[in-house]
Amino acid sequence: MMKLQYYGSLAVLLLLPVALACADTDFDFFYHVQQWPGSYCDTKEGCCFPGNQKPAADFGIHGLWPNYAVCRTVDEDGRPLNQSKCWPDFCNASDPLDPSLIRDLEPDLLRNWGTLSCKSKESTAFWSHEWTRHGTCSGMDQHSYFLAALEYKARFNLTRILLDAGIVPSEERTYCLSRIRDAVAEATGSAPNLECNRNERNETQLYQVYQCVGVDGRSPVRCLVAMDGGCTGMVKFPAFCATETIQVMR
Ligand SMILES: *[C@@H]1O[C@H](CO)[C@@H](O)[C@H](O)[C@H]1NC(C)=O
Ligand SMILES: *[C@@H]1O[C@H](CO)[C@@H](O)[C@H](O)[C@H]1NC(C)=O
Ligand SMILES: *[C@@H]1O[C@H](CO)[C@@H](O)[C@H](O)[C@H]1NC(C)=O
Ligand SMILES: *[C@@H]1O[C@H](CO)[C@@H](O)[C@H](O)[C@H]1NC(C)=O
Repeated sequence: MMKLQYYGSLAVLLLLPVALACADTDFDFFYHVQQWPGSYCDTKEGCCFPGNQKPAADFGIHGLWPNYAVCRTVDEDGRPLNQSKCWPDFCNASDPLDPSLIRDLEPDLLRNWGTLSCKSKESTAFWSHEWTRHGTCSGMDQHSYFLAALEYKARFNLTRILLDAGIVPSEERTYCLSRIRDAVAEATGSAPNLECNRNERNETQLYQVYQCVGVDGRSPVRCLVAMDGGCTGMVKFPAFCATETIQVMR
């Protein structure tokens, strides 16, 4: 929390030229992706809580993902790819996550980047996957990568941004998708992409918010890519009522 001040807008402006000057990055922007626990947990698959501790009803980080502005159809040597590639991934197999390098961030990570998956129930496994797949392509070292994602989430508190715009978690209400997008755009200066999923009753609900961030990992940028996130006009934003016990017993 006390680190927040440092990344106020003045600090960002001062750091930007340095970051651009030494960035050795082969991508165009980051997606800072956050998931709503209510929408993760009320699906057919359900969810689990690491350490059996129910997290707060707050957005959680999914990842900070390097992305291309235009999908690529040839590899670095100009050979055609079987499948077009819209983001780089798994950039350095010899650089696995070393938890000792991010130990000081762990309390913050557990609070803001916890897993809800029933597969491992271990947030370290989640961070390790995110680092190996996306972080190794970020141009940042491990500590800088996780810190950047945490700082961005803290700087723009999505839960509060939506609450302030009257978008409150509810079992009954539905919200116009553009109202959600506008609220985030107004608060951050950049309209996000949105992804929906379906609850057990097959109703569409807001699941993940993709904010576009510059290659420095700090500054919001205009989203260059449209995304089909499976959302229709009106979506739910469900309360986070699920309990792990119910999910496990299913
Ligand atoms: C691309 O497709 C060819 C032919 O199906 C296959 O031999 C090759 O392994 C594939 N390459 C990749 C990178 O998947
Ligand atoms: C991959 O990671 C290893 C271990 O951190 C490092 O020594 C090496 O320079 C990295 N390779 C590239 C291409 O970045
Ligand atoms: C974000 O704002 C919500 C609503 O005010 C609050 O409950 C939550 O603790 C905040 N998250 C963080 C990480 O400060
Ligand atoms: C859920 O709703 C969608 C859109 O109305 C429909 O295409 C799909 O078949 C439904 N799925 C189930 C499992 O009912």
